Amino acid sequence: MTTAASLAYAEDFLSEDDHLVAARRRSDDVGVIPVGPGGGAALSFLASVVQAKSVAEIGTGTGVSGLWLLRGMQPDGVLTSVDLEAEHQRLARETFTEAGYAPQRFRLIAGAGLDVMPRLTDAGYDVVFLDGDKVEYGEYLDQAMRLVRPGGIIVFDNALWHDRVADPAQRDPETSAIRDVVQRVRNDERLRSVLLPLGDGLLAAQLLA
Ligand SMILES: C[S@@+](CC[C@H](N)C(=O)[O-])C[C@H]1O[C@@H](n2cnc3c(N)ncnc32)[C@H](O)[C@@H]1O
Repeated sequence: MTTAASLAYAEDFLSEDDHLVAARRRSDDVGVIPVGPGGGAALSFLASVVQAKSVAEIGTGTGVSGLWLLRGMQPDGVLTSVDLEAEHQRLARETFTEAGYAPQRFRLIAGAGLDVMPRLTDAGYDVVFLDGDKVEYGEYLDQAMRLVRPGGIIVFDNALWHDRVADPAQRDPETSAIRDVVQRVRNDERLRSVLLPLGDGLLAAQLLA
């Protein structure tokens, strides 16, 4: 079995530059928990593999995941990111701008994921990344299935949720909602999926063409 030391080694496989370190500091300042370096690297890799020009994200935070995604996207790609908290998005804007991204590369929408997602374009996204309210993960999956283009990828953060998802005795609303989504994704024949044990768990699924 993989040891904690090996998991930590994989998590830190790619190091973060000053812009990501600054974005993490902003997250700390406002009490946001961003993806770890391993999860961030996986997001960047997935965006690159599908040559993403259009990515939707629910849960901007202060832009750690967004910066990793932008770095994997095509040079003219646009990140659309939604967050309830205008202050988090103000800090994310700082993150993206300081990292050298022009304003036309990112579209920040302040609002609740479930209010905004129905207004986004059907099959308009190469990657849809979900990292907002864990209790809403089931509804995010319904929306993401509509938003992602065939061949595109849906990704959920916190798929292992602090080791609670794997423990059937844990039945709090967040854990149950995430466990439900993991099961739905695994059983959906329209999706090819993988559960990556990076950070707090990254569930990725490709919509088959
Ligand atoms: C875990 S943080 C996101 C971290 C970010 N994805 C990263 O890795 O850098 C979750 C974010 O989701 C936002 N959020 C919580 N509930 C939400 C909802 N219902 N709709 C949109 N955003 C929400 C919070 O304000 C917070 O900024």
